[in-house]
This record gives sequence, C-alpha cells and structure tokens, in this order.
Amino acid sequence: MSDNLRLTLRVWRQAGPNVRGGFETYQIDSISTDASFLEMLDVLNEQLVTEGKDPVAFESDCREGICGTCGCVVDGMAHGPEMGTTVCQLHMRVFRDGQTITIEPFRAKAFPIIKDLVVDRDAYDRIQAAGGYNSVNCGNAPDANSILVGKDDASDAFDAAACIGCGACAAACKNGAAMLFVGAKVGHLSMLPQGQPERQQRAIRMVTQMDEEGFGSCTNTLECEAACPKEISTKWIQRLNSEFMRASTTSRHH
Ligand code: FES
Repeated sequence: MSDNLRLTLRVWRQAGPNVRGGFETYQIDSISTDASFLEMLDVLNEQLVTEGKDPVAFESDCREGICGTCGCVVDGMAHGPEMGTTVCQLHMRVFRDGQTITIEPFRAKAFPIIKDLVVDRDAYDRIQAAGGYNSVNCGNAPDANSILVGKDDASDAFDAAACIGCGACAAACKNGAAMLFVGAKVGHLSMLPQGQPERQQRAIRMVTQMDEEGFGSCTNTLECEAACPKEISTKWIQRLNSEFMRASTTSRHH
C-alpha cells in the first residue's frame, strides 16, 4: 500500500559552469512511496515552474537503470542509499515521512558541472572512444556457437559489460579515480576472443586517456564498488593493472 511523504529537499543549484552554486531548500508534499526519485524531482519541478522559478536541471533518459545518465549524489551517496541501484530506479519508499534529503551533482575534477545536478561526463566517452571497441572486421553476426567461450569467461565478461559508464565510481572516490570504469571496459573485452587482436593497445590507450582527463589514482578504498549501481567488482581494477603492465612490457620489447 502506498503512503504519502512530506519532505524537505536541499538541492544544489548552480546556474552554469563558472558561477557559484549553493544549496536551496524546498518543501514538497504528497509524494507517493510508489514514486521513483526522478518522479519526485519531476513533481518538484512542476511546483517550481508554477511558482515562476527555474526548474532543477537533472539528466535522465531510460529511467530503467541502463543508460547511466541520471547519476547524482543523494545524502552523500552516489546514486543514493540503495545498493546496486541507479537514481532512476531508486524509489521513494526507502525514505521516511518528514525526512530531509540532500541532493548534489557528482563531484569529480574530470566531471565539470554544467548546471544544477547535470555534470559533463564526456571524459568517460573519450576514454571509451580511445580503445573500448573492436575495429577488426568481424563480418556478419556468426552463429552463437561458432566461437566457443568458456562459461566462466563468458560470465565474467558479462559482469564487466554490465558497467553503464554512469560516473558513480569516480564521483564516490576521494581521489576521483576512474579505475573501476576503465577496468570494467578493458576487462570485458579482454575476456573474449573478439577482444584479443587489440587487447594490448586498448589497455594502453584507455589508461593514457584516463590520465589525460585528470582522474586521480586508485588507493584501494573500494568506495567505487560500494557506489556502483551495477555492483562491478574491484577485481577489474586488479585486472586492469595487470593488463596495462603486460601491454607496456610487451610494447617496450617490440
Ligand atoms: S535514466 Fe538511464 S540509468 Fe537512470
């Protein structure tokens, strides 16, 4: 059965990239516990527009936990308090009536704020474009069983492929490191036969681009894994380190 919540929202408002931002406080009533977090923000925005105020800018696309655009920080946690859940899949039933909720954008040097809760996450796209693909001509889609992949490798590759590139890992990390994202992307293709031809250059190019984007270094605090809405394991960071090491050593000798 759904109940209605009365909430106080502290929302980060910032009109643009180069202006000073700050928290503003809003009261919002009659939010159904069945509503999603983004539906709650929609209601807030209708209220703000009715009052002649600027609505809160936030991003969303799929609202199904797939596209990775909706990330923001809710009560100090990237994507909010529920484990393994994107903001768009977060439901208001996890909040209490009368609660104050603080909502901020992802904060990482490599993700500059565009407006309010919207940050520029193009740095992840540029890392992906640097090597997170296959450029070999694979021809038409082959029969499913024509290239055999062992069950363990297929499952591991699938786990890494679940990364939606939302940026929560870098936002949750005190160093602003992107290692979990890059580890998942490099690791995914490293597990599959299709990823072998470009395996070494992929690791080097993606790590080099990551460094150029200004992401910090990993110091194994594991906040990234805790914040990841797809529960990507930090074992992919270890794998990234060994992929990069092997690729650097090999390319030095050849
Ligand atoms: S809107 Fe697509 S993951 Fe949240």
